[in-house]
Order: sequence, then structure tokens, then C-alpha cells
Amino acid sequence: MSASSPGSYDLIVQQLVPGYASLARLSVALLAASAAAGRPGASVLVAGCGTGAELLEARAQRPDWQLTAIDPSAAMLTAAQQRLGQTATAEASPAIRWQQSTVEALDAEAAFDGALSVLVLQSLADDGSKLAFLTALARSLRPGGQLVLVDLMAPERSPLQQQVDAAWIGFQAASGVNAAEAAVAGLTQGIHPIGSSRLAALVEAAGLSDPAPIFQALNVQGFLLQKLP
Ligand SMILES: C[S@@+](CC[C@H](N)C(=O)[O-])C[C@H]1O[C@@H](n2cnc3c(N)ncnc32)[C@H](O)[C@@H]1O
Repeated sequence: MSASSPGSYDLIVQQLVPGYASLARLSVALLAASAAAGRPGASVLVAGCGTGAELLEARAQRPDWQLTAIDPSAAMLTAAQQRLGQTATAEASPAIRWQQSTVEALDAEAAFDGALSVLVLQSLADDGSKLAFLTALARSLRPGGQLVLVDLMAPERSPLQQQVDAAWIGFQAASGVNAAEAAVAGLTQGIHPIGSSRLAALVEAAGLSDPAPIFQALNVQGFLLQKLP
């Protein structure tokens, strides 16, 4: 899912991604339970904020967090800003720092107590781009800082995988997904999922701990990682 159209994104992502409605809540709750980001006023990076799902949830659970929201898409940032402007807590919380940027281009050495990356890594090719993204995330974290990473993963070889694939198609059909709209929204093209062993190798090279699994719905998986000393 590379998400190019914020207009249709919010509906279609829910129709395509099993468990999407819980992803942001779960991701924020996990980070909030960490030693570093658990502190009052912790600084948290939302990498690839899209239309703002994680920001909205972070505002609700942790209005004290100092949030930095980055996304290379101006349209996505604008959609997130409009969405966040409508929340009741917006005025009571520290202002969100918005930046139109990729994680790789972010000038943030050890600046954050925690980071969230939901459905972003999958859109990068495994040609050095995924490693650059993960290395930049690790660089942006303070020692002990944690990253919640959620992505569509490549299936492991299993006799039951065909059934999982069929279930995903059934999930989408039951959700009423329109294949043409999903393609227009950039949600079904240009994705590069990897398997868990490849992810383990990449995060190790990036300077992050082994990914601890925290969520799975069909092939959508979430992991908790910590910056290595
Ligand atoms: C599928 S959307 C996910 C948005 C949001 N996290 C969510 O869960 O709804 C992926 C987002 O990542 C952004 N993105 C793509 N490459 C990125 C990069 N290298 N660094 C930061 N964000 C990136 C895209 O512009 C897009 O808004």
C-alpha cells in the first residue's frame, strides 16, 4: 500500500487491512508502556503519518506527548492536519511538529523517545531503501527508545497459506472493497512485503533489536523493537 490519495484512503485502508481499526490504538498503547516514551512529555516520531490515524490516537491516549509527524506527501500531511484540527484535545496539547519529509531525509539524531511506523516499510523496495529507512529510524531514537513497526508481510511457506490468501480476498469482498478505487488510491500497487527472517536481518543491520511480534491479522504484522546500545 503506497497510499497516494488521501480522499479515499481512510475508507479503503479499513476495507483492505484486517485489524486496521485497532492498529493505531494498539501501537500507541505499546509505545506508551515503554520506559522511555512512558515518561511525561516524551518526544515521539510518527513516521509516515498519512491521514493521521496514529496522531489522533496518540492525542487521545497521551496528550502530553510532543509529537513530530512526517510524511513526504503534502496531500497526506494536509489531510492529517485537517483531521487533527478537529479533535477536542488539540488545543490542550503541545503543538504537533509537522514536516514534509521522508524518514531518511530527517535531520534527527537521537531526538526521540519512541517512534511509530505503520504500513510504511512495505512501500519501499528491498534494494537498500528498506535498510535506509530502518537505519534512519534507529538513528532518530535515543538509546532505549522503542519503535512500533506494523507492515504487510510476505507469507511464510505453509500448507495453510492458500487458505490465508483466500481469507484475505474474502475479507476484502465482505468489506465491499472496490478494486479499481483501491488501485486509484494507491493502496494495492507498489508494495514490497518481506518475510520475517529478512526483516530480522534488516533490523539487525539497522541497529535495532530482534522484532518482538505483538500483532498479527492474516499477513499484517506488528513488531516492537528497541534501539541497541
Ligand atoms: C499506507 S500509508 C500509512 C499511513 C498511516 N501510517 C496509516 O497507518 O494509516 C503510508 C504513508 O507512508 C508515507 N511514506 C512513504 N515513504 C515514506 C518514507 N520513506 N518516510 C516516511 N513516510 C513515508 C506515504 O506518503 C504514506 O502517507
